[in-house]
Amino acid sequence: MIKNLESLTVKLIGNRLLAEANDLKRTIDSISKEICVDISKFENVIDGYASFEEAVELATQFSKNYPVSLGDLIIDLPDHIDGVLIMRAEESKKSARVFQRKDSVQKYTDYYEYRDTATSNISPFKPEWIKELRYVDNSDPENPDVAYNNGHFLHQMTAFIGPVNFYWEIDGKKYSSEMNTGDSNYITPFWKHSFATRSKNEDAIIIAVTFAGNAARARKEMYHLNKNAMSNYFLDNRNNNNAKSLLLKQILDDRCINNKMFDQICKKNNIDLNLDSIKDGDKIDDISLVKVCDAIDISPAIFDLPNHTFENEVVIKKKDFNESYILNDNKAKPDYKVSTLAHNKRMPQMFGFEFEILGNELNSNTQLKSSLHSYIYNFGDNPVNFSWVKENDKKDNLSNKIMPGDSIYVEPFVKHAFSSIDDNAGKLFIFRVSGAVSLEVQKEISSFAATDRLIESSQWFD
Ligand SMILES: [Fe+2]
Repeated sequence: MIKNLESLTVKLIGNRLLAEANDLKRTIDSISKEICVDISKFENVIDGYASFEEAVELATQFSKNYPVSLGDLIIDLPDHIDGVLIMRAEESKKSARVFQRKDSVQKYTDYYEYRDTATSNISPFKPEWIKELRYVDNSDPENPDVAYNNGHFLHQMTAFIGPVNFYWEIDGKKYSSEMNTGDSNYITPFWKHSFATRSKNEDAIIIAVTFAGNAARARKEMYHLNKNAMSNYFLDNRNNNNAKSLLLKQILDDRCINNKMFDQICKKNNIDLNLDSIKDGDKIDDISLVKVCDAIDISPAIFDLPNHTFENEVVIKKKDFNESYILNDNKAKPDYKVSTLAHNKRMPQMFGFEFEILGNELNSNTQLKSSLHSYIYNFGDNPVNFSWVKENDKKDNLSNKIMPGDSIYVEPFVKHAFSSIDDNAGKLFIFRVSGAVSLEVQKEISSFAATDRLIESSQWFD
C-alpha cells in the first residue's frame, strides 16, 4: 500500500514537471536535452517507477535550471489514506510537552501542557490540546500571574473544556473572560493572549485550533519580498476610508494611470474626485468610487474591504442552549444537536460547531459534507461511531470507533456521519476552514474553459 502511494505521488510530481514544462513552453524531450538529464529519468517519474527521492532529485535539477520554485514541484508523500486521518488519545498523550512561563515573582513555573492532535501535511490546521497549569484565584486581566504570549501568525479558534480563564490584549489594553465547557472564541493573528485555570481540582483544557489562512500560504513570497516591501501591501483595514484611498492609489499605479490622466478620466465621466486632495483618512464617496471603477473597467467589489469592529478582533461566544438545533429535524429520531461556535464575518469560510451525537444508527443520521477541511475532537466521556467515504469514490463506507480524546482530520468532500453507542450521547467539536483552494481560487477555476484538466497530465500540444 505504502509503495503504491509513493508511486502515485511520484506520478503527481511527474505531472507537476510536465505542467511546468508546458508553462515554460518546452517539452520533456527538449528539457532533458537542455539540462543534460537522460529522458528516461523524466519518464520514470512521469510513469511512477522512480522512487520519491529520485523524483525530488529530478525536481531539484529542474528548479536549479528554470525559474520555478522547488516547493511548487514537490507533492508531499500522503500521511493518510481515504481522506481521513485519525489520531488516538494515547498518541496525543505521547506528544505531551510542558512549557514554563514567568509568574508574579518572575519565577518560571509550569504554564501549559501541549499535546498534538489530528492534522495532516495537506491540512490548514495545527490543532493542539492544551491543559492550563497556571492557577488563578481571580479573573483580573492584569493579574501578574498571567503570562500573555506575543500573539501568532495563524488564526485561532478555541473551544473550552472546564473552568478556563481567557485573556487577551488589544492595543495595549487587557481583557479577560471566564469560559466554560462549550464556550468558544476566535483570535485575530498577533493579538496577545493567554489562558489559565480557575480550579485546582478540575481539568481546564482548551482545544486551540490554529490554522493557516491565505496569508499563511503566501508566506514563501513574503519572505522573499522582505519586510519593507510587505509593508506596502498593508491596507489600513481598521480605518476603512484610509484603506480605500490607499487601494485606489495602488490600483492607479498598477494601471499606469498618473494624476493627470486620472483628472482627465474624472472630468470626462463627471466624477468629483481629485487624487491630490485624497489624503490619508479622507472618505471617498461611494458613488464616485463606483463611477471610477466603471471608467477604468474594474469591479467595485474590489473595494469591499473587511469591516473591522472591536468585537471581531477577538470574538467570544458563550454556549447558548437556546441556539442549539437538531440537524435532521426528526423528532422521533434526532441525529445531532448542533451548537455553533464563535464566528467572524471577516472569515467567511471558518466555522466551528459543538455536536452532541444523539442518534444511534449511522445510516439514519445525516451524512455531513463540506467543501472545507474539517478537524474533529471527541471531548465527551463517550465513544462515537464514525463512518466516511470520499464523494464520487465508488467504495464502501469505512468506519471506526472514536474514543474520548481521539481526534480526526477530514479532507474536503469526504462524506461522514456519526452515531452514538448504547444511547450514550457523544460530544464533538467540529471545525471547518478552507485550504489553498479558497473561494477566490474556486471563482477563478470556475471560469476556466476546462475544469477536468486542472491536474495536467499531457503536453499543451499534440
Ligand atoms: Fe494562541
